[in-house]
Amino acid sequence: MRKQIAAANWKMNKSLEEGKSLLEEILSSVESVPSNHEVVFAVPYPYLYPLQSIVEGKNNIFLSAQNCHHKTAGAFTGEVAVDMIASIGLKFCVVGHSERREYFAESNAVLADKVNLCLTKEITPIFCCGEPLDIREAGAQNQYVEQQLQESLFHLDEVAIQKVVIAYEPIWAIGTGKTASSAQAQEMHAHIRSVLSKKYGTEVAAEISILYGGSVKGANAVELFSQPDVDGGLVGGASLVAQEFIQIIKALQ
Ligand code: PGA
Repeated sequence: MRKQIAAANWKMNKSLEEGKSLLEEILSSVESVPSNHEVVFAVPYPYLYPLQSIVEGKNNIFLSAQNCHHKTAGAFTGEVAVDMIASIGLKFCVVGHSERREYFAESNAVLADKVNLCLTKEITPIFCCGEPLDIREAGAQNQYVEQQLQESLFHLDEVAIQKVVIAYEPIWAIGTGKTASSAQAQEMHAHIRSVLSKKYGTEVAAEISILYGGSVKGANAVELFSQPDVDGGLVGGASLVAQEFIQIIKALQ
């Protein structure tokens, strides 16, 4: 049975002390996370190690990296390798966030390499996909997202694909306050699942968590997460406010 996941993406925000207080405040309201749910905090690299003791030993609560490099090691000043992330015990890494694609020119091919490296180290990639506004306005979002999946994920076999979490994040909804309607989210998530079914079969597709991201808040999380193919959210802005993210965790179905 696929998991329902609330994933926080802090992006480049908070000092270590602020992050620590935020995490502690959230966790003090979330006593236990049931086994079909996962709560993930994608925090800036320097905080991964110092914050780990706060989540250690807590069931179904994890830290995640926000990115990794697509080569294994070497002369890449300022970059962080998947091996390094694995060596501090992490189990998750966000791959291909639209901000990485846009500002750091990450291509579908490079993201395929990142996904592969994560899987060799038993790190779950939270693979982001989603269309910009002009593609949505042209009605071409389904083909656009399908191509992202094909070029970054569809080389995986049916065992490996089930270790990937997909996050659909329409770019026009990220940080804009303009959430996709629950119907728009469900429509795309159903499309993604049908593309996965065609490639891997219905049973495999049913095992893959597909998160929605883009202006998820406490107030809209229940409606979004109650859609049959929406398995939780990847949350930016609202994950920086304890009471908002607590509400989002509680909205998991
Ligand atoms: P947002 O960001 O919730 O602030 O729209 C989502 C994301 O970028 O993952």
